[in-house]
Amino acid sequence: MKLNTIILAAGKGTRMRSSMPKVLHKVGHLTILEHIVNATAEINSHQTSIVYGHGKDLVKNALAHKKNLNWVLQKKQQGTGHAVKMCLNSQSACDVCLVLVGDIPLISSATLNRLVAAAQQNKLCILSALMPDPSGYGRIVKDEHGNVTAIVEEKDATELVKQIKEINTGVLAIPGAKLDSWIKQIDNNNAQGEYYLTDIVKIARAEQIAVEAIIVNDNFEVYGINNKLQLATVEREYQRRKIEQLMLAGLTVKDAQRIDIRGNLSFKQDVVVDVNTVFNGDVKLGENTIIEPNCIITASSIGDNCHIKANTVIEHSIVGNNCTIGPFARLRPDSNCQEGAKIGNFVEIKNSQLARNSKVNHLSYIGDAKLGENVNIGAGTITCNYDGVKKSTTTIESDAFVGSNSSLIAPLRIGKGATIGAGSVISKDAPANQLTVSRAKQVTITNWQKPSKE
Ligand code: UD1
Ligand code: CA
Repeated sequence: MKLNTIILAAGKGTRMRSSMPKVLHKVGHLTILEHIVNATAEINSHQTSIVYGHGKDLVKNALAHKKNLNWVLQKKQQGTGHAVKMCLNSQSACDVCLVLVGDIPLISSATLNRLVAAAQQNKLCILSALMPDPSGYGRIVKDEHGNVTAIVEEKDATELVKQIKEINTGVLAIPGAKLDSWIKQIDNNNAQGEYYLTDIVKIARAEQIAVEAIIVNDNFEVYGINNKLQLATVEREYQRRKIEQLMLAGLTVKDAQRIDIRGNLSFKQDVVVDVNTVFNGDVKLGENTIIEPNCIITASSIGDNCHIKANTVIEHSIVGNNCTIGPFARLRPDSNCQEGAKIGNFVEIKNSQLARNSKVNHLSYIGDAKLGENVNIGAGTITCNYDGVKKSTTTIESDAFVGSNSSLIAPLRIGKGATIGAGSVISKDAPANQLTVSRAKQVTITNWQKPSKE
């Protein structure tokens, strides 16, 4: 059986009231369109076409990483029937052509396979749904034998038809042999002056071809996004399902409604995630690790027995086992904290390595630095890594102790076991095992008279 797939994604999505094409709005970390492309990638489709038009470059670029897509331009959006017509020239012959609207991100490959299997018996198969509130959708009209006779858009529907709760989901499977002739027969005599794909139901019936409606098991799979309210509804449901899976797989979540997963979260045993945490991209959490409230963790890996304290932001970084990070810490991209490292409050780390058991506990900036093992960075110390033109590296060897409020002017090397006196501005390499200090000597003025008002 040769299957072709067409995804309709040329519309503007006027009701979104956005300058961005509707299909590029996100659910979780993926665009609406990418969710659909992913679902269709799991069915055995010979060719997948995407009809695009509104915001054409934006849409194509957003999906540039997806290979083997047949991009079909629909310059003027004249309706879903017109959109499919644009594909006829570049379509290879097929047994079944599956068409999907581009705004139903939760559609599953299992449902698509079910519909395609039904369409193989030379029938037109419509995926339908029973909606308690069917407003906005096209209604499935049936005869007394339960055969589908028409799909009527809401704008063309009589009051009686509007009562029908079975709706067109916008997913249908068309016999390949009929596709060309049916699409070419669609006209635009309707309330919106558009070429409705849904009119092929009447055309099929006129040719005595059976039209079957297959009711979807899970309405959220076909929940169409036309406005921001619907986008938020789908986002919540998507999150609810994702988090439910994670909890069933053993993740302890303090409040299932106050965690967001915008990517893939993997975790080992006995991980606890407290409230208001957001995980972006691929995040790994090791055994017994605790994530306190209000943390945002992006594309990072956290080891075993770590304690990520409240209000910590970690991006594109690696945290080894037994580390404590935060509260109020920020690990910017390419930070690597090895086993036992401690990062305290109001500390920013960027593109730096901390070897085992090194500590930066308070109010510091460590950028473009390499710290050995057991290094202790005192409160308020910063690496001056940028001279206004280029970035330079600070190397601090193992067992060094940097006193509080020091400025380390890179490029710079602080030797093994060196001590830097508090308040120093260090611009030259500091030797191993010595005290290096650069600050004005403290003096006390004896016999000094405090000014008085009299
Ligand atoms: C459509 C169906 C309706 C169904 C609903 C399900 C038609 C006529 N109506 O209505 O029966 O209940 O989906 O969600 O098919 N598009 C194009 N080119 C166009 C017009 C639309 O590519 O010229 C694309 C849009 O980008 C969108 C999809 O087709 O992804 C559906 O368009 P939309 O305007 O949302 O259709 P609905 O009014 O929701
Ligand atoms: Ca829609």
